[in-house]
Amino acid sequence: MFHFDHVKIDNKKEFYKQINGYLESMIRDDPDWLAGLANASALLYQLMPDINWAGFYLFKGRELVLGPFQGKPACIRIAVGRGVCGTAAKTGEIQIVQDVHLFPGHIACDSESQSEIVLPIFHEQRLISVLDIDSPVKARFDQDDADGLVQFIEILNQFLKWPDCFY
Ligand code: SME
Repeated sequence: MFHFDHVKIDNKKEFYKQINGYLESMIRDDPDWLAGLANASALLYQLMPDINWAGFYLFKGRELVLGPFQGKPACIRIAVGRGVCGTAAKTGEIQIVQDVHLFPGHIACDSESQSEIVLPIFHEQRLISVLDIDSPVKARFDQDDADGLVQFIEILNQFLKWPDCFY
């Protein structure tokens, strides 16, 4: 069993230091990518304040396909270039969306979602996945979240062994 102390949510830098330490302690002894991503999404969902979905879409050759997540059931396939996730996959850039209703092509999986952050995950220049987090609060995510989650992804990349191909 993993035990997590109460997290400090009033300071984002401290929050991510703590979260990223927990992530490393959870995955450092086992490189199984599926188990690692499942636990990573559970960690975010349990400990991040004001979120309603956290998980991964896996890049399977031509499109994104739903991977381990926590939250309401979500759409299964997202074309590269579509929605916030597809835009992150296409551009390779982190997407911070303050108001999802103003994002052209946003794909609503939960009508409660108001803001969103999506980070592409690359390994050896190859797109592996995107990390997607939704919030029921407008403008929930900022650069501190992006910085903390970039480190979160670096830990995933350091300890998990990605498959050569998801198919
Ligand atoms: N909103 C995302 C779709 C995935 S759900 O949020 C879980 C998008 O526009 O790509």
